[in-house]
Amino acid sequence: MRLPDSQLAVLEAASATEATAVDRLADTTDLKPESVTRAAFDLRDDGLVTITERTETTADLTDEAHDYLADGLPEIRLYRAAIDAGADDEAVELGQLIGAAGLEGPEVDIALANFARKGYGQIDSGSVTADLDADPDSDPEADALATLADGGSVDDADLLDQLERRDLLVQHEHTVREITLTDDAVDALMAGIETAETIDRLTPEMLTSGEWEDVEFSKYNVEADAPEIEGGRKHILRQTADRAKDVLVGMGFQEMDGPHADADFWINDCLFMPQDHPARTHWDRFALDVPPIQDLPDQLVDRVESAHREGVGDDGDGYHSPWDRDFAEAVALRGHTTSLSMRYLSGFAGADIEPPQRYFSVEKVYRNDTLDPTHLLEFFQIEGWVLAEDLSVRDLMGTFEEFYAQFGITDIKFKPHYNPYTEPSFELFGTHPTTGEIVEIGNSGLFRPEVLEPLGIEADVMAWGLALERLLMLMYGFEDIRDVHGTLCDLELLRETEVLQ
Ligand code: PHE
Repeated sequence: MRLPDSQLAVLEAASATEATAVDRLADTTDLKPESVTRAAFDLRDDGLVTITERTETTADLTDEAHDYLADGLPEIRLYRAAIDAGADDEAVELGQLIGAAGLEGPEVDIALANFARKGYGQIDSGSVTADLDADPDSDPEADALATLADGGSVDDADLLDQLERRDLLVQHEHTVREITLTDDAVDALMAGIETAETIDRLTPEMLTSGEWEDVEFSKYNVEADAPEIEGGRKHILRQTADRAKDVLVGMGFQEMDGPHADADFWINDCLFMPQDHPARTHWDRFALDVPPIQDLPDQLVDRVESAHREGVGDDGDGYHSPWDRDFAEAVALRGHTTSLSMRYLSGFAGADIEPPQRYFSVEKVYRNDTLDPTHLLEFFQIEGWVLAEDLSVRDLMGTFEEFYAQFGITDIKFKPHYNPYTEPSFELFGTHPTTGEIVEIGNSGLFRPEVLEPLGIEADVMAWGLALERLLMLMYGFEDIRDVHGTLCDLELLRETEVLQ
């Protein structure tokens, strides 16, 4: 029998009576583990070895865990300080123990979170009592960390999960393959095996010299483990933005673009937002300390001012509140991309506005919100509008159903809403795929005459602003938007999530 070098080396290193792991065979043969695996698969195909597979979990300690190995877990340090201060007898102020326990910064919260959980005692409005029966010398978490640091293994999966939740270790799963010789292999080894040189790569030289005709090629094994390559890739938010654009183009829409920092006129005044509206205060908007935008279309400015002051139509009524051109010229980061819709609908952006027309943008907007799992200071809005004769709420709802169905979302719900610029107005909701929660995903409506008349538009306009990040949550089940955005984002999740096309 003739076998390639690596296969013969693996056969000679393996045993018929004991299963040997690939890593050990790699050590004995001086081959890379991937080469041993590849050889083993070929040998298995020839009936010379059997391969068994199992999944093994290994745990790597984090830097924080190494700190605690040196200093002790924060809750144990708190316990020892509490016992020293007599807290087994009488409650001691937490403040007195922090210094004695050497707890700094976040360690205080960590100690508090774990102290009661582990039965070291109680903390009640800042007073600590310690339970004398607790035994910090046999703390399972501290023991597990010490065992792992010594290269040992811990079998208790719950304990490992708990330590992983505390960010003290990271668990990795990998496949362990073990190899055993078959009787045929033993017979073949006894009869003697010759080595055959095999070539694993065809070169241009071999082709020109004709050498390729005489060599033996090693078989290509698609099951062998290969090193993981993590190349760059487009962020899933961008990919989903691109997909939303494709869908809208497919629905007959054209794309709008325009400034991120814009005159309040386009962001608010055109939308019949009174200048004393709460959303126009410094609390909600990011005002910019830059010169005002003065090249506003004067006639439109006059018509918008008059809509604000007197309303439109015979029985129109405005806000009777102050209106000031300086205020309209002031520059802020746009809080919605409806500023682009106003630029386009006014004709200022150069687009033709004879009905029917459909326009969209998928662009960033900025709001002075409080960060939480569903709110960011900046996010992408899927803005859009349709200009046509005789539009109704049915057209609006039908458009959303058609749009969201392209992303597999078919249970959109609508709720009547109020916007100063649309009547009627509707908020849109979807159902979170894992938590079942109802999530707000957008806002929409038909523009009011107070918006359309100054723009000189006689047909109807239905419009909306949908949150791209919320669409992403519904598509992929993210619960915290900060998993995909910003400094806290989960790289592994971003690498692994398949973007549905
Ligand atoms: N501008 C609204 C928002 O940001 C969305 C919207 C656009 C609503 C157009 C109605 C019409 O929530």
